[in-house]
Amino acid sequence: MPQPGSVYYREYLRLDKILEAQELESAKHGKPAHDEMLFIITHQTYELWFKQIVFELEAIIDILDDPVVQDKKIGRVLHMLARITKIQRILIEQIEVIETITPLDFLEFRDLLVPASGFQSIMFKQIEILMGIRKENRIAADCEFFKTRLSFSDQALLEEVEERTNLLELVDRWLTKGPFDRFEGFTFWKMYRDAVDKMFKSDEDIIRSNRTLTDREKDSQVEEMLKTRDRFDSLLDKDKFECRRAQGEFRLSHSGFLAALFIHLYRDEPLLYTAFRLLTLLADVDGLFTRWRQRHMVMVQRMLGTKIGTGGSSGQDYLSQTTNQNRVFLDLFNISTFLIPREDLPPLPANVRRELGFFFRGPDAS
Ligand code: HEM
Repeated sequence: MPQPGSVYYREYLRLDKILEAQELESAKHGKPAHDEMLFIITHQTYELWFKQIVFELEAIIDILDDPVVQDKKIGRVLHMLARITKIQRILIEQIEVIETITPLDFLEFRDLLVPASGFQSIMFKQIEILMGIRKENRIAADCEFFKTRLSFSDQALLEEVEERTNLLELVDRWLTKGPFDRFEGFTFWKMYRDAVDKMFKSDEDIIRSNRTLTDREKDSQVEEMLKTRDRFDSLLDKDKFECRRAQGEFRLSHSGFLAALFIHLYRDEPLLYTAFRLLTLLADVDGLFTRWRQRHMVMVQRMLGTKIGTGGSSGQDYLSQTTNQNRVFLDLFNISTFLIPREDLPPLPANVRRELGFFFRGPDAS
């Protein structure tokens, strides 16, 4: 049993291993390129942060993968998600450091790196998978690279990760099982439909009575409005929703999506606030990964122009496609389509408000 005081900084942090892990490929070829050191260290730093994100995601998944998720553990989940967002901000900022390598200096060692690529970052792939990206969600080139660019042992490792229930599925389960939008004797969604009908009627009246528009312009605006109306219809019709979900328009289940919408609409109710925070943080994490991808893509554009990547992809074009496709919690962004103004929201009956409130009841509480 080690005694207190026997820990030595260098050994504890395994610095011998870490600080000796920068071997310049250009030096091996007899022409050391100054900037390759920065290139290696930046990538290694990213990998360590990715590892920390995987560590946090696994802990979050462990909590949510309980058949009965304990409410008091949700606070812990919020804390870890918030930590992930802080790390992500550093990941985005860090691109500025690697961007100090000029395209010309990059050329001094770039070709020596073929066919290695950030695409082969197993930590990054684990993050994607743990969050909820499955093979069937990936663009064709991304799937193909899985088979052709990764070692067999890395493929096996990722397949194992894919077997696990991912964060998206667990959040969906949590939303579906939760009591968020289901109360005895109160059918919220019928009232919501009436409020939506009223909202569209009022929107149409506003368009029709707008004197600055021609009749043609009015018709075209009403037509656009009806498209949004159609989206509302598919939200309130489970079969239509599932049909759109099968086409990839939604990833949450019908009941999960409705619960998420209810939470957004009534987030001012004290007991829904924690759930609202959770959904907001999930959207933040998704949004920040997208921002990292966009930032990385712009850096790549500057570094490579239209050249292909060292991993053999079309480079910038490939990255643009994965940026758009590899979204996990896009539903939480698209939920805004279905929000209606607070003043048009059906008021919750007193018993429901009591259920969603805290315990203190002042004399005026209804
Ligand atoms: C000079 C700097 C960099 C250049 C020119 C560059 C270029 C590229 C290119 C062209 C790709 C597409 C795959 C390919 O054909 O190789 C790619 C993918 C990727 N790179 Fe970078 N990269 C750079 C720095 C970084 C850094 C610092 C990281 C951090 C780990 C990183 C992580 C990734 C990841 C995770 C992918 C896969 C993205 C996906 O599949 O959507 N890259 N990179």
